[in-house]
Amino acid sequence: MKTVVITGSARGFGLCQAKKFKESGFNVVISDINENNLQSALKALQAIRPQDTKALSVVCDVTNPQDLQELWDSAAQAFGTVDIWINNAGVNSPDKPVCELTGKEIAFILDVDLKGTVYGSRVAFAGMRAQGHGQIYNVEGYGSNDAMMTGLTMYGTAKRAVTFFTRSLAKESQDLTGGQVKVCRLTPGIMITDFITHANGDATRIELPEKTKKVYNILGDYPETIVDYVVPRMIANEKNDADIVWLTNARAFSRFLTAGFKKRDFFGDKK
Ligand SMILES: NC(=O)c1ccc[n+]([C@@H]2O[C@H](COP(=O)([O-])OP(=O)(O)OC[C@H]3O[C@@H](n4cnc5c(N)ncnc54)[C@H](O)[C@@H]3O)[C@@H](O)[C@H]2O)c1
Repeated sequence: MKTVVITGSARGFGLCQAKKFKESGFNVVISDINENNLQSALKALQAIRPQDTKALSVVCDVTNPQDLQELWDSAAQAFGTVDIWINNAGVNSPDKPVCELTGKEIAFILDVDLKGTVYGSRVAFAGMRAQGHGQIYNVEGYGSNDAMMTGLTMYGTAKRAVTFFTRSLAKESQDLTGGQVKVCRLTPGIMITDFITHANGDATRIELPEKTKKVYNILGDYPETIVDYVVPRMIANEKNDADIVWLTNARAFSRFLTAGFKKRDFFGDKK
């Protein structure tokens, strides 16, 4: 029986991945800073394949390296090995240019989105190197491919750095483990989750401009759709430095081409 650990998985993309992995026969360890959501997420997971898979929840703040070590230790103690570790926890930027962000807001984004991924990867890499195998996935986002937009500079800075970090760690893994530990990227595209309308944890609400909603209606998807595509590919992956991509250029192009015929409305605006 294989085991997956996912950070920031009490809701959204992380929870959807956890459900899909459990449906696929994995033991699943979810973790988050939001304890209430974590409890209800655990209940939902325990109802999936209860006869042959298990779920565990661990409170973990990815900005705290000690929490991440305890997350690895809890998973390894419960299930023996960790086969896949996904650094999924992430926060959005308030929709403001850098000159209007406070130092605290900037630090918060970099701490969770970049340092959280670095700390999580470090713990998982050490554990997987010792056990002799495993896959680490770091979640990319806006900016990973050098896209730029006012209001998303700090988020994009963090995600661009996550991409560099992940590729460079894959190179280290090639040197240190001969690629036995696979360090990979997961590129989900635009997902209709609480993330797109919240910043500063959930403390700040983001009002999406009409222009943005239009793009999201064309390119966005619910995370349930995306995990059906990415999770089987992560499970089957045998390559170090792989990138599992949902919103490829071809898919985006085809969405724009067919947007006139296939009207989608995630925001309930087109009554
Ligand atoms: N939604 C999108 O359009 C989109 C697009 C590309 C990439 N992503 C990335 O996908 C990942 C998941 O996003 P989502 O849309 O499911 O967001 P979400 O806001 O729905 O879920 C994020 C989860 O992370 C948790 N979290 C936040 N800070 C944490 C911390 N310090 N420690 C542990 N957990 C923490 C939250 O409590 C929440 O449960 C993020 O890395 C995000 O950057 C999202």
